[in-house]
Amino acid sequence: MVGLGTWNTFEDDAALARRVVGAALDAGIRLFDTSPMYRGAEASLSAALDGRRAEATIATKIWAHSVAAGREQFLRQLEWYGRHVEIEQIHNLALWREQLEWLSLERDAGRIGRLGVTHYLAGALPELAEALRTEMFQTVQVPYNPHERACERELLPLAAELGVAVIAMRPLGGGQLVRRRIPEEDLEPLRDFGVETWPQALLKWALSDERIDVVIPATSRPERTEENAVAGVPPWFGPEERALVERLAA
Ligand SMILES: NC(=O)c1ccc[n+]([C@@H]2O[C@H](COP(=O)([O-])OP(=O)(O)OC[C@H]3O[C@@H](n4cnc5c(N)ncnc54)[C@H](OP(=O)(O)O)[C@@H]3O)[C@@H](O)[C@H]2O)c1
Repeated sequence: MVGLGTWNTFEDDAALARRVVGAALDAGIRLFDTSPMYRGAEASLSAALDGRRAEATIATKIWAHSVAAGREQFLRQLEWYGRHVEIEQIHNLALWREQLEWLSLERDAGRIGRLGVTHYLAGALPELAEALRTEMFQTVQVPYNPHERACERELLPLAAELGVAVIAMRPLGGGQLVRRRIPEEDLEPLRDFGVETWPQALLKWALSDERIDVVIPATSRPERTEENAVAGVPPWFGPEERALVERLAA
């Protein structure tokens, strides 16, 4: 599945958010990843979903240095997202043991659908694994693209074993991987897989690992949501196509 990330794109620009989020929904994108850390993106996303909230799956985060601050973030989120958050993630493992206690109660009360945990650094993978082993989390978010594959060693097998859904952040390498020019003819072997563009090849590369459930590319350009959404449907790449994308990205 292709979702939409919201880091560094529309921030507190509610008008831009409405265009990007509206285009994403029209393209069939359903999951929206955000965070209190994303400089106004949570509020902009909420405004952009006015009248369309029921179509969206919200994956937001708690990113706080105290339980009290985390609870305040959650109260704001309940106001923004109609008294319910589908996926509540602990951002960058911040105070995860402490936040997990009250978040579990919120899940039991039905105000949260699933609990998740995230980190953007390979060095945090052992602690992410430790968090998953508590069996209190139903989702995990890690970087995954041809240049960032550390999660393949331990975390993806563990998530598969525990039935934890994996959300892949930075599927376009934070934009770095899409800046390179890939000649059209190099993508020819991928056309039968519905791939027309290099960003689609990268997104399908990640989704073709069966342990990845959703990729969340961010964009500030409404028309790119449709381009990205196309990568979210089968057929999936086999080992040869994945190896080709890895060579092109090298
Ligand atoms: N939990 C964490 O610690 C953490 C850390 C990092 C990210 N995340 C989440 O993961 C999401 C994705 O990561 P990311 O935003 O860092 O990087 P990314 O999605 O890999 O790349 C985003 C960049 O790709 C460009 N882009 C998107 N679609 C494109 C297309 N079709 N063609 C060309 N360029 C395209 C965007 O530029 P334009 O705006 O010009 O389209 C943007 O600069 C974030 O937004 C956030 O929700 C979480």
